[in-house]
Amino acid sequence: MARIGNLYISPPLLPSSSYFISTKQDFLAFYNTRYTGCITTRTCQLDGFLEDGERRRVEYTRDGSSINNFGYSPYPLRQCLSWIEEIEGEKPVIVSVAGGRTQDLLDCIEMIQETRMKLQSGESRFDIGIEVNTSCPNLGNVPAGFDFVQLAEYLTVIARYTANDPTLTVGLKLPPYTHDGHFDSLISVLERTCPIRFITSTNTLGNGQHPESRLVGGIGGSGVHYLALGNVYTLRARLNTAGLQHVKIIGVGGCFDNKSYQNFLNAGADAVGLATAIGVVGRDVFSKILEQ
Ligand SMILES: Cc1cc2nc3c(=O)[nH]c(=O)nc-3n(C[C@H](O)[C@H](O)[C@H](O)COP(=O)(O)O)c2cc1C
Repeated sequence: MARIGNLYISPPLLPSSSYFISTKQDFLAFYNTRYTGCITTRTCQLDGFLEDGERRRVEYTRDGSSINNFGYSPYPLRQCLSWIEEIEGEKPVIVSVAGGRTQDLLDCIEMIQETRMKLQSGESRFDIGIEVNTSCPNLGNVPAGFDFVQLAEYLTVIARYTANDPTLTVGLKLPPYTHDGHFDSLISVLERTCPIRFITSTNTLGNGQHPESRLVGGIGGSGVHYLALGNVYTLRARLNTAGLQHVKIIGVGGCFDNKSYQNFLNAGADAVGLATAIGVVGRDVFSKILEQ
């Protein structure tokens, strides 16, 4: 069992935010199994859009990597929250949102808080956490996880909510960091304001290419596993040194079997998420990981 802020995650294994968890049917399929301790929704924004054209492909390689060029969910946040209202159970749900403008993030948090208040009951451990996606590499901009001025602004907004309601569990989904400067910048921002209770590390590594289809997009799966482990390990060490032991870590990147799951726990993750393995192995990958 992992306790992340007000979220109790048992087992500490969950679908990470992705295209595979876009619809109400997806939410229910991943929620209603004892092999996940939580679900994370695909990243939503305030407004939806018609998902078509080129920005919606995922390809796999023989070694279990994925390349995808998806953007965010076509479904608006309000729709996503209405599906969550229909879920019955004690497990938490993490809603992934993307800010864009800081005001948009504020509006997202406000909307999620309304739903939280509606669903909260003294008898249940059910709760909704918020994961702020600062790391999609497919949108033609600098993700906030690499823009530490923008990140600091997000944290200031988040702090307003968590100061009023300490039960609200908010985390950041970070991109893969590749040098010490990234970790230094993150920690110095968190040392100033740290309203978050978890970090999800990592999102896909941008700008990979699938050799046969030539699709360019973010790399997930086996190809990023060791990079993700290193990020989790370094984040844990750096957070501890900064006195931020209470910030938990959800390790993500190339988890597809019990060995890779254990690798994350050994590197310092409190819980482990996955996406590519759902596409490669199928929805029953969670039971396979835990029963191996
Ligand atoms: C097809 C696809 C869509 C994804 N969509 C999202 C998303 O909407 N939001 C997000 O935070 N991460 C998204 N991700 C990233 C995953 O959550 C995960 O961080 C990354 O793929 C590494 O994990 P994996 O190796 O288990 O796939 C997506 C990944 C894939 C493969």
